[in-house]
Amino acid sequence: MAKATKSFVCQSCGAAYTRWQGKCDSCNEWNTIAEEAPREVMPKGVSGGKGGRSIAFVDLKGTGTPPPRRSTTIGELDRVCGGGLVAGAAILVGGDPGIGKSTLLLEACGKLAAHATCVYITGEEAVDQVRLRAQRLGYANANVKLAAATNVRDIVASLDEAGAADVVVIDSIQTMFSDTADSAPGTVTQVRTCAHELIRVAKRRGFTLFLVGHVTKEGTLAGPRVLEHMVDTVLYFEGDRGHQFRILRAVKNRFGPTDEIGVFEMTDGGLKEVLNPSALFLAERRGNVSGSCVFAGIEGTRPVLVEIQALVAPSALGTPRRAVVGWDSARLNMIIAVMEARGGLAFGAHDIYLNVAGGLRISEPAADLAVAAALVSAFSGDPVPADAVVFGEIGLSGEVRAVAQRDLRLKEAAKLGFHQAWMPRQARDAAKARGKDDTKSGLALKDMGHVQDVMSQFASVAGMQNFQRGGH
Ligand code: TYD
Ligand code: MG
Repeated sequence: MAKATKSFVCQSCGAAYTRWQGKCDSCNEWNTIAEEAPREVMPKGVSGGKGGRSIAFVDLKGTGTPPPRRSTTIGELDRVCGGGLVAGAAILVGGDPGIGKSTLLLEACGKLAAHATCVYITGEEAVDQVRLRAQRLGYANANVKLAAATNVRDIVASLDEAGAADVVVIDSIQTMFSDTADSAPGTVTQVRTCAHELIRVAKRRGFTLFLVGHVTKEGTLAGPRVLEHMVDTVLYFEGDRGHQFRILRAVKNRFGPTDEIGVFEMTDGGLKEVLNPSALFLAERRGNVSGSCVFAGIEGTRPVLVEIQALVAPSALGTPRRAVVGWDSARLNMIIAVMEARGGLAFGAHDIYLNVAGGLRISEPAADLAVAAALVSAFSGDPVPADAVVFGEIGLSGEVRAVAQRDLRLKEAAKLGFHQAWMPRQARDAAKARGKDDTKSGLALKDMGHVQDVMSQFASVAGMQNFQRGGH
């Protein structure tokens, strides 16, 4: 056996070093490298390729039945998991402290307990604390098996028999401890070893395993990459603690689509499902205010309308401020540059603030046009019509590009009482070419081919542009 040498592992990205150093060369983080036990050495014969048994190969076609799903009866959670829980699947639920991970999973257990064996193992709270929470959520009498434990060997031993459990929650994986790895709980090695042992028993015994994972300051789970690769599904629970909305987002799913979201509202009695997120995100919108624009977005398979707010104010600073909440700041800078260069607006002496109302985070490029409309509206003081939705991607030459799922966006907008849509011209041309009926959504469609088309919707903008509108 090779001599065991010390090993230093970056707690952020998992890169290994032979010596300690202040900065990780792999992820450029400072002070993330800690000493850990050496990696396990392969037993003799494993790497040589000798002495193995030949494995049986099977057809790709198989029996053709999709894995059976167990419904949690929390529709939003089922949706994000791809339509219910799969036996033997490992699901990582990540999120900031206090966002509601324990609440969500305890509720799921409470509901599932009626027709399945649920085990809830907490390494963070005392049993009484969990009981108190269950009482508050209205599941005091649910048949959930509860335990406070952190030793993975004990947990595996208790679960490693047929029918021991159908659903197991480990809250959280960072508090778990395995005596086969001799580094402290929470380190990459420990998290990896514990998760590995738990996932193995879940696959062997066919129960669904939920692992709660903490998110570090930088927004990733401690020991993140390692864990994300090991599990079948990665869900992030997001939201602003100042808001009552919580969004459960699938970022990886071996059993369903990713980018699916579930929307919840945190109330006194726990998490409540939000069945119509658009109505919720638009609930506090005030019509006819400059700088506000409704974006018709798609989250996963579902259309979500959300208000984008912009504020453009004269700046006293040499370098004006650009602040964004809920969107990508690099993308905002790009849109500003395009509007300056291709639309003739001069934002140079102005601070710009952009906010996606309701605490949602948008990553779709289709929001470009809505951001542009909000900015022009804020700059000119003219409101975007209160009954308009906007979507489209903007390119560097100022052109508005087509985006996917146009009909779904229009349908949702019509459902919520909007009367017009500002959208890419190409999308309409393409639809016409396919002989599609454009009027079926009932919305008046305004074609946007270029950012200047957006600007021409605002009466006061013409005087602000520092060049004449040319053909484009
Ligand atoms: P929790 O599930 O403990 O968060 P996590 O496990 O992600 O750290 O959520 C705790 C927060 O939720 C806490 O700030 C209180 C709030 N909360 C409610 O508002 N209503 C409730 O019914 C419950 C149980 C918690
Ligand atoms: Mg918790």
